[in-house]
Amino acid sequence: MRLDKYLSLCGKASRTETAKAVKGGEVLVNGTPAKRTDVQIDENADAVVFRGEPVIYRQYTWVMLHKPDGVVSATEDRLKGERTVLDLLPEELTRLRPPLFPCGRLDKHTTGLILLCNDGALSHKLLSPARHVDKAYAFTVKFSLSAQDISALETGVDIGGYVTAPCTMDVQAGGREGRIIIHEGKYHQIKLMMEAVHNQITSLSRLTFGPLSLDPALAPGEWRLLTDEEIGALSGAVR
Ligand code: URA
Repeated sequence: MRLDKYLSLCGKASRTETAKAVKGGEVLVNGTPAKRTDVQIDENADAVVFRGEPVIYRQYTWVMLHKPDGVVSATEDRLKGERTVLDLLPEELTRLRPPLFPCGRLDKHTTGLILLCNDGALSHKLLSPARHVDKAYAFTVKFSLSAQDISALETGVDIGGYVTAPCTMDVQAGGREGRIIIHEGKYHQIKLMMEAVHNQITSLSRLTFGPLSLDPALAPGEWRLLTDEEIGALSGAVR
C-alpha cells in the first residue's frame, strides 16, 4: 500500500502531515529517506521510521482500558458533551482507520475492564448472545441480598420481559457485596437484575471479559494495547 495510507492506518500521520514529513526527509523506509508519499510499502516486510520512531503495523488494534467512573462508553456522546472512553486515548489511537470503538458497553458509573478495537468481525462474535462470553463483575448493593435473592438471581430473573440466563454469584459482607459472572450482556443487565429482587446497585466494576482480566497495573483511566496472545485468546473464546 502507499506510504501515506500506511502511516494513516497506523495512526501516525494524516496524508498532509506525511507529505510534510517526506519533504523534510523525516520518513525512512528501510533506512533510506522516502522521496514520495506514494512509495509502495509492504507492511509485512518494510521497516518504516516516522520522525525517529519505528512504525508498527497492526491489521487490527485492541486496547484494554480501565474505565473510570463518569465516562460513557459510546462514541457518539461526544456530541452531547459527555466524556467518552475515546477521550482517554492518545491521538495516535483515536485517528486509526478504521476507527476504534468500544467492544460492548459499560454504564457511565460502571468502572473496570473495557476493550476497544477496530476489528468489527471479532467484536461482533464476542458480543453475540449465542457465544456466551463470560463477564465477571464486583458489585456492592444497597440492601443485604438474602439466600432467596441470590438463588433467584442465579436461576434467572425477569428484567422487563426477558428472563436472564443462569449466572454464578459469590456474595460476602452480609449480602452487601460480591462477585457475579454473567454469560450474556443485556443492556443494564446487573442493575436490572438487582432491581428485580428489590435491591439497588451502589457500585459495579468489571473484572474480566472472556479470557481476559483487568490488568492490575492499569489505574482508572489508563490503557494498554492487548498482546498478540491476548487477541488470540479472544479469538479462541469464540471459535
Ligand atoms: N450490567 C449493568 O447493569 N451495567 C453495566 O455497566 C454492565 C453490566
